[in-house]
Amino acid sequence: MNKLTVRDIDVRDKRILVRVDYNVPLNYKTGAITNDSRIRASLPTIDYLLEHGSKIILCSHLGRPAGKPSEEFSLAIVAERLSRILRQPVGFVKDCIGPEVDKAIGDMKNGDILLLENLRFHKEEEEGDDAFAQALSKHGDIFVDDAFGTAHRKHASIVGVTKYMPAVAGLLLEKEIKALGKVLTEPPHPFGVLLGGAKVSDKVGMLNNIMGKVDTIVIGGGMAATFLKAQSYEVGASLIDDSIDATAEIIEKAKKNGVKLVLPDDVLVTNEINDKGATENVDIAHIPPDKHIVDIGTLTITKFTKALEKCRTLFWNGPMGIYEIPQFSEGTKTIAKIIASMHGTTIIGGGSTSEIVTEMKLCDKMTFVSTGGGASLKFLSGKALPGVEALLDRNAKVN
Ligand code: 3PG
Repeated sequence: MNKLTVRDIDVRDKRILVRVDYNVPLNYKTGAITNDSRIRASLPTIDYLLEHGSKIILCSHLGRPAGKPSEEFSLAIVAERLSRILRQPVGFVKDCIGPEVDKAIGDMKNGDILLLENLRFHKEEEEGDDAFAQALSKHGDIFVDDAFGTAHRKHASIVGVTKYMPAVAGLLLEKEIKALGKVLTEPPHPFGVLLGGAKVSDKVGMLNNIMGKVDTIVIGGGMAATFLKAQSYEVGASLIDDSIDATAEIIEKAKKNGVKLVLPDDVLVTNEINDKGATENVDIAHIPPDKHIVDIGTLTITKFTKALEKCRTLFWNGPMGIYEIPQFSEGTKTIAKIIASMHGTTIIGGGSTSEIVTEMKLCDKMTFVSTGGGASLKFLSGKALPGVEALLDRNAKVN
């Protein structure tokens, strides 16, 4: 990475404002954290700063509270979890700017940790407001961006603050860029990409960018319906993405570039998308008009397995079906286990895919599990990430 990192700057005795991505999944009924991987992924940077006697001021967003305070999206619960993981107190303040925050930071000693309340309780965060960014920047002497999952956003706490203070990468951000960068620059071949999830539109940029590098593209999940439709199959009541034309172009490009495109031969369908829905395994040529595709079929699991097992590098993003409903999750679970048993490099895109892998306790069987969903797709689409671009270049002069 051609950016300075926290290792390149003197952080001793300084106040370090660290942007983390603590946008953790919550149980919508109890409000409990269901997966704390993002909190754990921030520990190397926190430990580094603790070892170097810094005052650590953490800031993050959680959910999409639409610019207003809301108890549902308070980061208080994250402060508690972080404190339990670190086995040391983590202070928490009920705002991210203002006198209460200034007082709490003023009282900090070296080695103290403070988490600020959800940045998105202020609409100015997502607007990238300059005055808000400047107010945030007053909290620290140095800014460390460790929020890879949010590096594709141009928000005040990501890009805005870098105008007002020396800004360097955290250790997680550095690790993500290195791991994902290898996929783009030196993937051992055959290189395969397995994509699922609902929307093709999220992945068009990435598919276009990797076309000259990849050997095999395997498509499952909701987006398979759009690919099948683009090849004139009837997909019943399944949702079709509005990127049919882009999908047809991708199919054409794959042919031209000699990329093997692997699509389902059979699918699991239902007429009720809930845990009572009766299912049927049907050939893709016989999808009933009133039914939805909810998982890949049994023949397809075997077909996908054969295609994936040949790969020496594999990037996976998106479930193979409606994973949250147990009877539609078999395809995803089987494929996750196959990937976990592969010997090559296996990179898991963030978001729901990393949640699945974590829930199945397969993380340590994968080469790398990214903490960024949208961010990893944007990175692999070859586009610059604003959060990375804004940091100091490697050759910049600092303290
Ligand atoms: C994510 O979960 O992908 C990041 O935290 C970004 O969240 P956002 O999509 O709400 O900006």
